[in-house]
Amino acid sequence: MNISIATVFNELYESFLKTSLIKRAQERDLVSISTLNFFDCVQPKERIDAPTFGPGAGMLIKPAVVECAVETLERKHGPAFKIFFSPQGKKLTQPLLKEIAQKAAEKKHVMLLPARYEGMDARVEKEYADEIISVGDFVLMGGDIPAMMFLEGFLRLIPGVVGKEESVLEDSFSGAFVDYPEFTEPLTWHDMTVPEIIRSGNHKAIDEWRYNEAAKKTVIQHFDWLKSSDMTSEQKEKAAQFIPSHYVVLMHGDVLVGPDKRVGTTSLMSIDMHDIARSSCTYGVKNFFIATPLKDQQAVARHFLSFWQKGAGAEYNKKRHDAINLVHIASSLDEVIAEIEKKEGERPVLLATSARQADEKKAITYYDQEKVWEHQKPVLIVLGTGSGLAPEAFNRCDYVLGPIHGFTDFNHLSVRSATAAILDRWLGINERYGKKLSAG
Ligand SMILES: C[S@@+](CC[C@H](N)C(=O)[O-])C[C@H]1O[C@@H](n2cnc3c(N)ncnc32)[C@H](O)[C@@H]1O
Repeated sequence: MNISIATVFNELYESFLKTSLIKRAQERDLVSISTLNFFDCVQPKERIDAPTFGPGAGMLIKPAVVECAVETLERKHGPAFKIFFSPQGKKLTQPLLKEIAQKAAEKKHVMLLPARYEGMDARVEKEYADEIISVGDFVLMGGDIPAMMFLEGFLRLIPGVVGKEESVLEDSFSGAFVDYPEFTEPLTWHDMTVPEIIRSGNHKAIDEWRYNEAAKKTVIQHFDWLKSSDMTSEQKEKAAQFIPSHYVVLMHGDVLVGPDKRVGTTSLMSIDMHDIARSSCTYGVKNFFIATPLKDQQAVARHFLSFWQKGAGAEYNKKRHDAINLVHIASSLDEVIAEIEKKEGERPVLLATSARQADEKKAITYYDQEKVWEHQKPVLIVLGTGSGLAPEAFNRCDYVLGPIHGFTDFNHLSVRSATAAILDRWLGINERYGKKLSAG
């Protein structure tokens, strides 16, 4: 495969291309890599860049210069899969690398066109780019480091470049789980000793330990990746073992009610019981508590539950029965906390939800699972009714999740709809990479 790089600074690539596995890949004729300087496309002393049209300072590489580079390199190495680099491009990920490796293999020539200054004329990318890659949501001075990053990742996927091919398949972000922790000599370093099991010689036990460690690390530190992955049912089950137990409580006491927003109670609604129970079941919530201090409301709820948990409803609709079986009635938040503590042996971390923005100290987002899960404690998601949780209940919570909202000013979701969205954002799977992640 030919890889060509059109750049403003080809000297940056001199030692890079002569180093380690990249050097070896060229020596073994697995790839041939060459650079072309954009200045070779202009007369001596002629500029390769020009000011942007419109207000605002900035220079762009001239389209004619890029055109000359593309034509020169394609004349030499044949039609190319052309990659531009821009912070506005597609985020570089292992699945994207894999996809490009497959597409590029058909062409046998990959051309990289890192820019400098303010980048490329938009028409040039439109005309030539097969892919525009960003290495992250930040802006560098030029595209050469991104091009080198791409090359390091891309070359690893060419058979023979990396010694052990299975190590590439098992790498982080090649499957649902990131890589497991590895250790080398000495056995003990800074009072930390290599886990006994790794040295046991028992391959089955080592594999199992590694699999568990990889799953745990992925759940806690890379949940965003995990939920985007196309997991097998076995991987899903394994990951679920490391997600702390979650509980939900719907507060009918300690809530704000009426136009003057005083602290009071609200009435239960059977539709909330049904729908939140079904959402809880879908997202693996261990129990859905309904908390009301009102004895008659508790009695109504128990009567309703007994139909689905033990009565004719259990026979009539088994799935509904399974969901409603998660529902427990309690008189207060304290009672719920005590019940979870009894079951789990630990007081849960309390995660409040609110339609309003919380104060900065407690506010977390739906990307902050690690902050909550690293405590390795059960989690209780606290939902309000009426006009939301009363300050006393609210202040007891350890964290507050931000409001669920769209691109409108309408902020009036029913609690059961909000719960479905909350659980989906916090615990839901939302595959992104599909079959691109088949390995691992
Ligand atoms: C100063 S940047 C131009 C930034 C551009 N004005 C913007 O805000 O999107 C110059 C060049 O560096 C490269 N570059 C900078 N940051 C990058 C990133 N995060 N990913 C890929 N390329 C990047 C691109 O080739 C880009 O055209």
